Amino acid sequence: MFESLRGKRVLITGATGGIGSAMVCLFADCGAQVGIHYHRNAAKAQALRRALLAKGKTAACFKADLSQVSQIRRLVKAFVRAFGRIDVLINNAGGVLEPKPIERLSEKGWDRTFALNAKGPFFLAQEALWRMRRQRSGRIINVSSISAKYGGSPVSLHYGAAKAALEAATRGLARWGAPHGIRVNAIRGGFIETPFHQKMGRRDRRERIRKIPLQRAGQPLDMARMALYLASEAGDFITGETITVAGGD
Ligand SMILES: NC(=O)c1ccc[n+]([C@@H]2O[C@H](COP(=O)([O-])OP(=O)(O)OC[C@H]3O[C@@H](n4cnc5c(N)ncnc54)[C@H](OP(=O)(O)O)[C@@H]3O)[C@@H](O)[C@H]2O)c1
Repeated sequence: MFESLRGKRVLITGATGGIGSAMVCLFADCGAQVGIHYHRNAAKAQALRRALLAKGKTAACFKADLSQVSQIRRLVKAFVRAFGRIDVLINNAGGVLEPKPIERLSEKGWDRTFALNAKGPFFLAQEALWRMRRQRSGRIINVSSISAKYGGSPVSLHYGAAKAALEAATRGLARWGAPHGIRVNAIRGGFIETPFHQKMGRRDRRERIRKIPLQRAGQPLDMARMALYLASEAGDFITGETITVAGGD
């Protein structure tokens, strides 16, 4: 079913994080050539690349701060220079910058969180779209969050709002891309076990898991498998959708 991904050029943002690194490994295992994007964690990006090269896979690392549109443009350009084209863009980088309760959330925290989770993915898509349009094919997958449904946790309203914006952009981009053979979808992740939660200062892990109907935390691989499905021919008749991977949450 995933044979169609062999040789595809896939750019994965936030590839040094929990979910991104699982995506990198799964796509490479299916024969895709992967772009490992990172922001600060160069060591992890290089370690991932070395592990893939040792297995005979094709991979390269790219650094960019995705809250800066100029760096986004450079990133896509560098990826295409290295791989020749872009078949799949996975907008996975994200996070809660300044986790704060509503009454203490600053303008800067709001803006930075929107820049990373909503503005960045849009401008990455914009850079990829005109290239995919020329190829008459392409796949864009945006990684959203169950926060878009709940309006965030007590310290992440701004993050939930940014992911809701990303889901709306997914529908708009999908309508634009459809006549050009470009499919755009989003994956709405539930509670997934990654460093994301430490960064947010979460201390209620067990309590949170009890609220999940399937009674377990999601794993990065759960998200990676959905991305693989949507990027492959298995998802050929799906566009403009937000698919929830959250154990029933
Ligand atoms: N974990 C969950 O429960 C969960 C649930 C739903 C959705 N999500 C979403 O899933 C995606 C991946 O999350 P994760 O759990 O894997 O988080 P993570 O382990 O914290 O990884 C976050 C990734 O984002 C990158 N990043 C952070 N700030 C950046 C910036 N300014 N520019 C470019 N890249 C930046 C990091 O790069 P460096 O490490 O190289 O700096 C890292 O690769 C995010 O969009 C998140 O919102 C997560």
